Amino acid sequence: MSEVILKTENLVKTYYLQQETIEVLRGIELEVKKGSFVVIFGPSGSGKSTLLNILGSLDRPSEGKVYFDSIDLFSYDDNGLSEIRNKKIGFVFQFHHLLGEFSCLENIAMPALINGTSPKKAFKQASILLEKFGMADKVNRLPDELSGGEKQRVAIARALINDPLLLLADEPSGNLDEENTNKLLEVFINLKNEGRTIVLVTHALDIARVASQAFKLKEGRLYAL
Ligand SMILES: Nc1ncnc2c1ncn2[C@@H]1O[C@H](COP(=O)(O)OP(=O)(O)OP(=O)(O)O)[C@@H](O)[C@H]1O
Ligand SMILES: [Mg+2]
Repeated sequence: MSEVILKTENLVKTYYLQQETIEVLRGIELEVKKGSFVVIFGPSGSGKSTLLNILGSLDRPSEGKVYFDSIDLFSYDDNGLSEIRNKKIGFVFQFHHLLGEFSCLENIAMPALINGTSPKKAFKQASILLEKFGMADKVNRLPDELSGGEKQRVAIARALINDPLLLLADEPSGNLDEENTNKLLEVFINLKNEGRTIVLVTHALDIARVASQAFKLKEGRLYAL
């Protein structure tokens, strides 16, 4: 039996607006085993980003628990959570969120520098990752000087720099054409083959075919696909 890295218990997220109450997550039960590639599929507005943000401790649930690496995530305060995120969770956002005034290499190295890694080691590791993703010639480019697919590869490299236990990806192929989407999928398949644990949310159902486990998010709950 492989080890469970992430487990949720009855995750509920409700937004209370002036005129309405939006129950986005209504009891999510999910178990992610080490080394698995979990894909959660759902249409726009189904709550994918909401769920992923909670799994990655960027947002707190209204009810329920997330156990990550055997700890009860939300028993920590915000400072504790940001330290856990920096050291153990890699996040690839729906919109890459690269820092425009920094080069590719600097963007990738940033989480390692924040972590206290020496600049020499951080930049060395960042250049190894850039090379791995076929972008060794683009170290000094700014994000705006890259294609969408290249930006996403930089965002993935940045998410990997601290060798996280868990990689979370929110619609990483959202704005890419078919060729770049396939390239990006290959990156994720290779990462899975290297033993990475990945949770990816998407509205593209065909991505589910490369998953170890696939779910559909519907009316606030997960169903096996
Ligand atoms: N801060 C908020 N306040 C109120 N409602 C919110 C908030 N954030 C999200 N929602 C609502 O929660 C629902 C789920 O949003 P979410 O962003 O998780 O969807 P999604 O599946 O990621 O969609 P997409 O595929 O378009 O990215 C939507 O109805 C959205 O309007
Ligand atoms: Mg989203």
